[in-house]
Amino acid sequence: MSDERTIEARIYERLSKVIDPELGRSVTDLGMIAAIDATPVAGETNTYDVRVRVELTVEGCPLSQTITNQINGAVASYPDATLIPSIEVGSMSQDKLTQLVAGLKAERKQNPFNKPGIRTRIFAIASGKGGVGKSSVTANLAATFAALGYDTAAIDADIYGFSLPRLFGVQSQPTNLNGMLMPVTAWGVKLISIGMFAGADRAILWRGPRLQRSLEQFLSDVWWGEPDVLLLDLAPGTGDMAISVAQALPNAELVVVTTPQPSASDIAVRSGLVALQVPMKVRGVVENMSYYEHKGEKLRIFGEGGGARVSEQLTHSLGYEVPLLAQLPLEPELRETGEAGRPAVLTKEGALRSDGIGETFKNLAESLMRLPQ
Ligand SMILES: Nc1ncnc2c1ncn2[C@@H]1O[C@H](COP(=O)(O)OP(=O)(O)OP(=O)(O)O)[C@@H](O)[C@H]1O
Ligand SMILES: [Mg+2]
Repeated sequence: MSDERTIEARIYERLSKVIDPELGRSVTDLGMIAAIDATPVAGETNTYDVRVRVELTVEGCPLSQTITNQINGAVASYPDATLIPSIEVGSMSQDKLTQLVAGLKAERKQNPFNKPGIRTRIFAIASGKGGVGKSSVTANLAATFAALGYDTAAIDADIYGFSLPRLFGVQSQPTNLNGMLMPVTAWGVKLISIGMFAGADRAILWRGPRLQRSLEQFLSDVWWGEPDVLLLDLAPGTGDMAISVAQALPNAELVVVTTPQPSASDIAVRSGLVALQVPMKVRGVVENMSYYEHKGEKLRIFGEGGGARVSEQLTHSLGYEVPLLAQLPLEPELRETGEAGRPAVLTKEGALRSDGIGETFKNLAESLMRLPQ
């Protein structure tokens, strides 16, 4: 049966498969395709020059190349004729953009993560004591989830001591679409951190009761789509932070990070006990810097037993199993690679490492997803 539609209509249909990487919608849904003209090439059979005019949301959009490449590909791979694409890139009129953003915002209705039925798993990484490795665990776990194929997002909720931009090597700023911010994607993870904002934008985030406000803004002013996993890197401390998280994100689950020594594990227990005050589950415990492997021998530099103690005490006080999910080695490489802007679980090419540390994080990610919400 022959297809009665015009060649332009058939190209339009192919373009509906081209997805804007930031908004997660097709370029046709977003109204980005302003014109398609196919003109037969004289002297050639079944060959057309195809001009596609694309209107991006913002001028000089960093992903413009990705989008135009995909459009080119969708046109050039047309099966029933030879199409020679030429793509013209422009930007939307202010009116059209206002309308688009208003439509997206209305559909999203503020914080998307406390809608009933939301399927995003949210893990808040807490510790009590500072410097035990929350941010390193968050960054590597997020990179692991992304490498395993989960749509992954992470919020740096530590507004005073933010560290995710550095750990992910992010230098760019989130694109601001008429007041809606696009997270910055690095190593496959959608990220937002106060460290990505400068000047006036940062001042806005810092105003008012800072923590609560900036977390809410990150949740409602950022276009997250519907990720499979959202990780929050919390600031050290035992109380307020987790309460703010529980209020804004009723589905969040706490993961407590500790090091082996009692000075860390005692506070880690307290940070988990916040679950007695708010309806938030403690999903499990991660012990970091558990040992240093030297010539095949595990040296327990910071003593031992912290993770197990936190697990036992929280299980006892909360009345449900709070398992010790992982014991991570002390690895100088973890710090060095992290400081160079790549989560150490990933290879330079961005694949999950298949050795010890990659395995450990993969197991941790899988056990978190396996445990029921
Ligand atoms: N397993 C590890 N092996 C080696 N170095 C580590 C390990 N975990 C964390 N570090 C290093 O220890 C330091 C503190 O880690 P990190 O910043 O992740 O802790 P934090 O709990 O987020 O700290 P803060 O409380 O300041 O937010 C960093 O320099 C980090 O690179
Ligand atoms: Mg930190």
